[in-house]
Amino acid sequence: MKYIRALRRMLSNTDRVNHLLAATERLVQGVENQATAANERLDKLYKAFDRLASDLNLRLDRIIAAAEDVSPARAPLKLKGQADAPRLGAAPMTDMSGLDLDDGHPELVFVPSEIDGMRRALGEAGCFLVRNLFNREAILRARVRAAAVARKFDAMVARGETAGYEKYLTGAYQKGHLPEVELDVTMTRSELLEPSPYSAIAESLFGMASFGFALRRSFFNGSPNPLGFHQDGFFSDYGYNFWTPLNDAGISSANLEVIIASGAPLFSITDRAIVDHLYQNYPKERFWHPIIRAGDSLVFSTFMFHRTRQTPEMTQERYSIEIRGPITASVKIKGVPADPGAALRLSSITELPAFVAQAQ
Ligand SMILES: [Fe+2]
Repeated sequence: MKYIRALRRMLSNTDRVNHLLAATERLVQGVENQATAANERLDKLYKAFDRLASDLNLRLDRIIAAAEDVSPARAPLKLKGQADAPRLGAAPMTDMSGLDLDDGHPELVFVPSEIDGMRRALGEAGCFLVRNLFNREAILRARVRAAAVARKFDAMVARGETAGYEKYLTGAYQKGHLPEVELDVTMTRSELLEPSPYSAIAESLFGMASFGFALRRSFFNGSPNPLGFHQDGFFSDYGYNFWTPLNDAGISSANLEVIIASGAPLFSITDRAIVDHLYQNYPKERFWHPIIRAGDSLVFSTFMFHRTRQTPEMTQERYSIEIRGPITASVKIKGVPADPGAALRLSSITELPAFVAQAQ
């Protein structure tokens, strides 16, 4: 009897366990169904996000295109006594397939991770080019802001609202500079400069990364306005320059030409005699003007001779920023003397023979 009761209890417990198991199974099944439904909903959400993101990109492209459309419509300003300037627009993105982007010096062209190569190039040539250093979309947005700055400032000048800018208007403005503070420095820094490998490269090679920059355009009053050969060292302390166009530069708009391995002494002015001296003393292949795409940067020091390269085919306006900072690291740069801070500044080519004799 005792055993039968125990057996019944056991059977009834087994029943309960079976019920529990069945309930658990139902529960698991329910959870699984819910998880599948949640995954499906998540998939749909992702797809919707994708559509939204590409729609936003499309709209951004249209806004950029529309902003650029405004540029050609803008009548170039006319100063007193000046001839009518042709109406020219901002440079569009260019198809560069099949072009020699490096212009004969592939050993001076790098991607952002090749810092050792950049260091070697500095030692041997005094300059290098980094491809894809900055986010191209952020560059395009900066260009739209730059074009807006140009329109605003030109309009101020046309209306004569230039109190406080007198010196700027007769100097930097005529050389193509625009007030960079108007570019929205905070936005330019946070969306263009800080997310880029720029800081790591500048810190590793030059000791520190500066976020100061100058803004320039290649036109003045609607006409090409190229700068001749010069060294930045005549107006700034020893440092570096990441020259960064906001357009693709070198096909339909002006790019930059550097003289590879050029350097000391510094000339405080650059006249015809000094330019002749450069052409006589540096072979043709040292004059380097690679295509620099929006997002790329050409890097050199305050000792390097460089100029705007403007050809008749370059009919479109170009904006560029120059990110400049001091060189605090001890880095070998071709053309830079051992004590760069004490470098002589010559004011005429006639002082050169004495300088060379003294250096030997
Ligand atoms: Fe310069």
